[in-house]
Amino acid sequence: MAAAGFYFSVATLFILIQLATNLNLSLAATPVHHIGRNTRFIRTSCRTTLYPNLCFTTFSRYATRIRGSPSLLATTGLSVALNTTRSATKTMISLSKSQGLKRGDAAALRDCVEQLGDSIDELKNSIGEISPPRGKGFRSRMGDVQTWVSAALTNDDTCMDGFSGTGKSMKRSFKFKVRRTVLRVAHLTSIALKFVNSYAAAATNK
Ligand SMILES: *[C@@H]1O[C@H](CO)[C@@H](O)[C@H](O)[C@H]1NC(C)=O
Repeated sequence: MAAAGFYFSVATLFILIQLATNLNLSLAATPVHHIGRNTRFIRTSCRTTLYPNLCFTTFSRYATRIRGSPSLLATTGLSVALNTTRSATKTMISLSKSQGLKRGDAAALRDCVEQLGDSIDELKNSIGEISPPRGKGFRSRMGDVQTWVSAALTNDDTCMDGFSGTGKSMKRSFKFKVRRTVLRVAHLTSIALKFVNSYAAAATNK
């Protein structure tokens, strides 16, 4: 009787330990597995861009939101490009008010702000156009988005051209700051374009 009770509790204990171990394993393994897969998708996608490191450091934090979806990756790419362009515009406006700025340099900055303003409109249009579900007109919608994002990239380049000449009077550190700010915008816009192209290709090949 006592022996039977002993074996019973040993068996129960064993089952309980097993259960606890399984539960623990599944609790620990599930999120890790998902994070791994989602992050791998970001890394693989970023490797196809011209700026894989900037891409990965920027987009890995959105991995669980994107969940391996080319559509969400493209939309997030556009949103990041838009937000970065917006904040770059603010930086340029405050730089254009710097003291001791030559008239020509201030004008170049204002031109730049105007170019970036066009980029903002193009990226906003792109986000509006890419969001509706796939279906009729998908190809032509994606064509519009590709055109707009390419145009935004051209605007960013045009803006930077204003600060590349050696004949400018602007201080080197100042010029460096402007170029670094706009270069980041251009690189993130290029990444967004790549994501849009991949999404368009993936959806059309289905
Ligand atoms: C961009 O900015 C908007 C408004 O501040 C914000 O809601 C959105 O989450 C930002 N996008 C990304 C990808 O962080």
